[in-house]
Amino acid sequence: MAFTAPSAIKPFEKKLWLASPTMHGPELDYMREAYETNWMSTVGANLNEIEAQIAKKLGVGHAVALGAGTAALHLATKLAGERLYGQARPNEGTLRGRIVLASDVTFDASVNPIAYEDGEAVFIDTERETWNMDPAALERGFEMFPEAKLVVLAHLYGTPGRFEEIRAICRRHGALIVEDAAESLGAQVLLDGAWRETGSLGDYNCISFNGNKIITGSSGGMFLTDSREDADKVRKWSTQSREAAPWYQHEEIGYNYRMSNVIAGVVRGQIPYLEEHIAQKRAIWERYREGLRDLPLSMNPFDERTTRPNFWLSCLLIDEEAMCPQVRDDRKALYRPEKGKSCPTEILETLAAYNAEGRPIWKPMHMQPIYASHAFVTASGSGRGQSNAYLDGGAETDVGMDLFRRGLCLPSDNKMTPEQQDAVIELIRCCFR
Ligand SMILES: Cc1ncc(COP(=O)(O)O)c(C=O)c1O
Repeated sequence: MAFTAPSAIKPFEKKLWLASPTMHGPELDYMREAYETNWMSTVGANLNEIEAQIAKKLGVGHAVALGAGTAALHLATKLAGERLYGQARPNEGTLRGRIVLASDVTFDASVNPIAYEDGEAVFIDTERETWNMDPAALERGFEMFPEAKLVVLAHLYGTPGRFEEIRAICRRHGALIVEDAAESLGAQVLLDGAWRETGSLGDYNCISFNGNKIITGSSGGMFLTDSREDADKVRKWSTQSREAAPWYQHEEIGYNYRMSNVIAGVVRGQIPYLEEHIAQKRAIWERYREGLRDLPLSMNPFDERTTRPNFWLSCLLIDEEAMCPQVRDDRKALYRPEKGKSCPTEILETLAAYNAEGRPIWKPMHMQPIYASHAFVTASGSGRGQSNAYLDGGAETDVGMDLFRRGLCLPSDNKMTPEQQDAVIELIRCCFR
């Protein structure tokens, strides 16, 4: 075996997490206030406060607090569908029979709402420079699917991609953008010469307060918009779509998607710590970069001139020449250790053996069994069926697949001490010996 356990490193007594909640105290005060004033409901001061504070912070007119980022994405996608194609029958989605172009390397919650609304996602490949949607592949997507009028765009691991270019392409094709900023709250993009917050950039914008996010409510999410009308609609849909009548009157399909005032108390307590969390995450990313500098790998990249990531997760990508053989099926992975080389599976298993949590790069949507029949577009055209048994051996053609194969997310918890992080770095170094 290539890996030799360094005797100086003991398994971490308390598990080192990828990203876990970091509480500060005020969260409990606001939760208690909800309890003591009996606003144990989906209305209350905490909700009003966090909606006002987040709208102000992100520079948008309106914020609507919801039970999850996924709920925000669903209602954002539905709003877009209604605007583009009109109101649907109660038993049909607004995107029935419609194509939606979507980020490929992301968490499935970004794109599942397209299916909730009966639409068909077409996945757009990723660029190496930022690990986000490739503008060239998006342009190809519009060539292949000129009828597409909606793009769902996620910012991976808190790093925004080339938003200005993507927006220009969407505008040229008359397409709307649903922005998934679940992982990137606090990250910024230079747009039209000014720094703008992710979560305010699209036509419909979403953030998440899931327990692993940069700030959390334990769960929760938000829909963000400049449109009063859209905000009102999301509020209505999220509380069962009641019409203005003395009884329960329903003329649209409704959802129970509103955030609780207790959860909002947690979010309210967290908001003042967003910048501190970003600074901690940045320091973690930089310490990994320094500590791993001489190894055959690179960190998750970003464009310093046009983006300010929130550094939610630190990730690495192993150089091709330094990859030991690794195979994966749909559930398991195997590798063969080689001197001087490693692979994500070896590093993840090593970290796990020492009680530290890592994770493979999010498996691209076009590789997911659930979406195997959906189209996938790379910068050179269709990403499906591009090898030829008579011409080559079936080489990989897409970036997402390559990132998944060679990349992994590292323990990025903002409570990790520098000493603990140095031990993680040493474990990674050992994998390459
Ligand atoms: C990119 C992305 N989109 C959407 C979500 C869904 O957010 P939530 O868990 O709040 O529903 C997550 C994470 O959970 C995510 O990482």
